[in-house]
Amino acid sequence: MMAGRDKIMNHTTSEIEKEISALQSELTIHNHQYHLLDDPLIPDAEYDVKMARLIELESAHPHTSTPDSPTRRVGAPPLEIFETALHAIPMLGLDNAFAPEDVTDFHHRIAKILEINGDEILYTVEPKLDGVAVELKYENGILIQATTRGDGFTGEVITENVRTIRSIPLRLISPPNPVSPFQDDADTRQYNRDVHEQTFSTDKQGGSGLSNYGLPALMEIRGEVILNKKDFAKLNSFRLEKGEPPFANPRNAAAGSLRQLDSRITAARPLSFFAYGIGLVEGGQRMESQAHMLEVLNFHGVPVNPLVKKRVTLSRIMDYYKELEQQRPCLPYEIDGIVIKVDDFYLQNLLGIKSRSPRWAIAWKFQAMEATTTVKEIIVQVGRTGSITPVALLEPVNIGGVTVSRATLHNMDEIQRKDVRVGDRVVIIRAGDVIPKVVNVILSSRSGRELPFKIPSNCPVCKSELHRIQGEAALKCINASCPAQLTERVRHFVSKSAFDVDGIGKKLVAQLVNKGLISSVADLFTIEEDALAALERMGSKSAGNILHALERSKTIDLKRFIYSLGIDHTGESAARLLSEKFKTLEGIMAASREEMEGIEGIGPKTAEAVYGFLENPENRMVISQLLAHGIIPESQSIFHPQETMNAKNAHWENQVQGKTFVLTGTLEKMTRVRAKELLVRAGAKVTGSVSSKTDYLVAGESSGTKLTKAQRLGIKVISQETFMEMLNTDPE
Ligand code: IVH
Repeated sequence: MMAGRDKIMNHTTSEIEKEISALQSELTIHNHQYHLLDDPLIPDAEYDVKMARLIELESAHPHTSTPDSPTRRVGAPPLEIFETALHAIPMLGLDNAFAPEDVTDFHHRIAKILEINGDEILYTVEPKLDGVAVELKYENGILIQATTRGDGFTGEVITENVRTIRSIPLRLISPPNPVSPFQDDADTRQYNRDVHEQTFSTDKQGGSGLSNYGLPALMEIRGEVILNKKDFAKLNSFRLEKGEPPFANPRNAAAGSLRQLDSRITAARPLSFFAYGIGLVEGGQRMESQAHMLEVLNFHGVPVNPLVKKRVTLSRIMDYYKELEQQRPCLPYEIDGIVIKVDDFYLQNLLGIKSRSPRWAIAWKFQAMEATTTVKEIIVQVGRTGSITPVALLEPVNIGGVTVSRATLHNMDEIQRKDVRVGDRVVIIRAGDVIPKVVNVILSSRSGRELPFKIPSNCPVCKSELHRIQGEAALKCINASCPAQLTERVRHFVSKSAFDVDGIGKKLVAQLVNKGLISSVADLFTIEEDALAALERMGSKSAGNILHALERSKTIDLKRFIYSLGIDHTGESAARLLSEKFKTLEGIMAASREEMEGIEGIGPKTAEAVYGFLENPENRMVISQLLAHGIIPESQSIFHPQETMNAKNAHWENQVQGKTFVLTGTLEKMTRVRAKELLVRAGAKVTGSVSSKTDYLVAGESSGTKLTKAQRLGIKVISQETFMEMLNTDPE
């Protein structure tokens, strides 16, 4: 920091001001490219360097920190309480439609008032975003105030918080030409790009490139602040980990994030925004319709939802509703219906408003994702890391087309906080993620006969005493050989993103564990076909398929291998980061906590969990058993194509490539792991057991049954020496 300050002192003020102003406009453009156009022009790291420089310069020269500076996105010190502000034009609500008839009634009502044929009415339809309504006030293109909807007349001033939302422009962009009210989307996108290319190539000092043409003196923009489902789930698991109550849904999470007194907290939440309307506007371009307004807003650099359908007739709306209802589960954010708006502003004006809602718009809601039902029982489940999760068993209830009969209660703190009892009427929600959860108890329905939940002191499966780990909200079963944990570990191990073994479902895993056929994930590779075929709902065909799938799974990406181990706080992305950094399993196993924590994206909890896991002798044993069964965690980088292509390897590649090897006995010249690595590099497959598909058995000292089997099947048996020759390599 000192060095930076010295550097600043050496410049003349006007030079610094020039640099600040240049950085401000450059970073504004990068924000726009990244958040609006999804087309970043520079790498994130470069952006961070520029931003850090600007923060440094602005804090040394506070007068240069304008309200639209991109540095305002990082948050300001705590506010006392929120001020309130009157909306120049009240922020209205919407009437709801729940069935197609409600929509046709709405349509006929409008046709009647306007005395026109219904077919002549064009609507603009939009997703009804399930977030928080806000109003953004721009003066001469600069964001000067942001407010919540509040009671519709008065809202809370949340300007500092809203400034941290990356997709909200701090300064509007002015298009060089007025926007035609009848431009289609493709034109809009092309136009957008042209404007930005032009903006970026123009020197800001010489008159900014952002011409003022078309910018209104005042423009109030209304829209919805939302939090994506994924970020909502992340935020909640983070809160649970810290023992804080989770948010019920993404809308509450967005509202909670916006109402932070410290905008640095808001800045850390990845909120986003879509505009759907305007309030008071003075000057600028005259807007003719809802669709035209959305185009104008978009041209000013304001995000507009891409699923909007402009100027459509009633029959198209019916299809749109169905399409969006189908897309709903796949969308990154929550929507709870569609909003139908008469497109033409002139017609909107003729229709006017009722007390709290306009006559020209209606919200057609999707089936609610919430329902009320009764808690029949509360059970506890043991996760793969021993965490105890309480689950409410419910009177089955339909939520958004899915029958729900159980809902998570997260952890013991949550049950106590919500005071959920057996027999209670509760509100269940399916939101943000697919796991239904209990939102709250309907206390007014209590009869007094409900039974409070008693926190268990022992594991429901292995009966060992439960522990509460310091700093964690979850109660844990710390018995590493608890069958419930093993079941969950195995299920995780064979799952799609891990070993991806087809045919091993929940019931089969439970049988394998309960019958004592496996006591670790490594034992999966020792299961005999007969034993498997004898299990319930199995037969020799499915048993054969499963063994085949297990065999196929043995060559696995390093990142999947790490993920499959089911280490606490280590999801797919942490596993990928570790694999990329350390390249080999040995590398990861030899890494220190500090080295792991040094990776961007790996936090102290993950580093600690991975280090602790790999240090544990039982876990190391399972890993070496996996390797001994012929599992080869490959890292893309050690098996780099160039390496396989080099001259030395080319000779043996021919004899070895595509062949299937089995290694048995003790190899004197190198470890089996090393031998496997070399073989795989040369394009060979290494499996754990001899079959008719085996090409070579490499027999080390004291080879046993594998050798006998190979001889019986007439498979080529080769000595260590021949093997070395084939590899044409030094043991090192
Ligand atoms: S238009 C006069 N459009 O729904 C029109 N609202 O019940 C007022 N909402 O508070 C709103 N998506 O938070 C409109 N595409 C959309 C919307 C939308 C979500 C919310 C908004 C408003 C509530 C109205």
